[in-house]
Amino acid sequence: MQNLTNTLKKLNYFWNRSQFPSQKPIQISTIDKLIIFLICIVIAIISSYKILLVSNLESPNIFSWGLTFAEVLLICGFLIVVSIKENPNINSRQILLIISLLLIVQMIKNIFGSELSPLSILIPPALIISQGMGTITALAWVSIASLSWPNSITNINSNLLLITLICSFIVSILGGRIRSRAQLLQLSIFVPIGALVSQWILIGNEKNSLVDNQGLFSSIGHIFSDSLLLAIIMLITILFIPIFESIFGLLTKARLLELADKEKPLIRRLSLEAPGTFEHTLLICGLAEEATRMIGGDIDLIKTGALYHDVGKLHAPNWFIENQDGAKNPHDEIDDPLKSAEVLQAHVDEGLKFARKNRLPKPIANFIPEHQGTLKMGYFLHKAEVKKLNFDESDFRYKGPIPQSKETAILMLADGCEAALRAMDINASDYEALDTISKIVNSREVDGQLDDSNLSKGEIFLIKKSFLNVWKRIRHRRIQYPTSKNNTFS
Ligand SMILES: [Fe+2]
Ligand SMILES: [Fe+2]
Repeated sequence: MQNLTNTLKKLNYFWNRSQFPSQKPIQISTIDKLIIFLICIVIAIISSYKILLVSNLESPNIFSWGLTFAEVLLICGFLIVVSIKENPNINSRQILLIISLLLIVQMIKNIFGSELSPLSILIPPALIISQGMGTITALAWVSIASLSWPNSITNINSNLLLITLICSFIVSILGGRIRSRAQLLQLSIFVPIGALVSQWILIGNEKNSLVDNQGLFSSIGHIFSDSLLLAIIMLITILFIPIFESIFGLLTKARLLELADKEKPLIRRLSLEAPGTFEHTLLICGLAEEATRMIGGDIDLIKTGALYHDVGKLHAPNWFIENQDGAKNPHDEIDDPLKSAEVLQAHVDEGLKFARKNRLPKPIANFIPEHQGTLKMGYFLHKAEVKKLNFDESDFRYKGPIPQSKETAILMLADGCEAALRAMDINASDYEALDTISKIVNSREVDGQLDDSNLSKGEIFLIKKSFLNVWKRIRHRRIQYPTSKNNTFS
């Protein structure tokens, strides 16, 4: 009976561990919540007040106004939930941006009515949101902005609405994947051309019209000017995206790739002043990139985050073994484990200072404390125990927080495995390498370091396998190829 209870307990434990741990909710201040709520109320009023103007406060219309008001308020809430789900690290400024764009669009719809093409109203914000917040948030935003019209939409050609919706969806999907400013420029040229051709086919030619034509956009001149206006607004939006990035802390793919440039001053300093740390960083980039690709995470984010994770070591490069190159170890000279632990923690604190000084976006700066989590500084803890010092175990643990995303968790695991894999015997078997990786990964898992990371058991297994694949590549590179006697190559 006891065996059965133990087995059930074990099964329950493994079941719980295999489930996705719940992510901590994002912290939004009360004032920000209030501002967001007020903007949502204004959007709901703007989107529904015309229903009251049409009637003379008759009860059925008050009911229909109340229904529309509640509906818009609800979809605003839905939009916020979707954006938080897609971006767990989203901040209140970014939520304000999404909601404010909706407010601006509703106001423009009210002011211009059907005079301004919906193409020019909906597509540019969709581009900003998809670039900064991702495809799903942009799709949700587009759907809401296309559904909610404060004015009657009978004046707008239904085919034009359909074209706008399709073009906005294309921009939302491609905008979330685009990795360079050049591709953005291509998008701002090809989408208006696509819109022009589809308008010409569906609206300009009455025979091909799907529903009906009101005549408003039926002439070629209007179609052309609409598409030209769309191209101009999209180009202006692209020019303003870097400003949006810095004001709202948006992290676009293009910004990530710019930060990953190894000629950036901070990375250049790392390669010159802490070459050992730089080499360690490059190897970690390889490990982390492979693992992230395997589980389907954000590769550009982890590559850039990995590059900056140890920049804090620039404050005292020679205190870290990889930069000592056979010289005296300062830790041995001070012979004080508590002081040594402080130096180790300082590489996180100083790293965060470097991040602030260099205006690194928060998702990148998060890699600095989270790659160490609350890990034990085992070597110095052991030294303190041998010396019988008076200490608390927390003195020999990093201050955290533990990894809050899959990417920072992968970096922690890669950071742990890097030195062990580099030091491994060239003749070691795959089994031995996987065993070493598993021991390091399991120790972090048992220590609770992966509890907030959302990594499932299956994903942890895939991460181990991908680290093994990278090690096999390293081993392959280290095998000496025989060269011809006179050392010439054909
Ligand atoms: Fe570190
Ligand atoms: Fe590191």
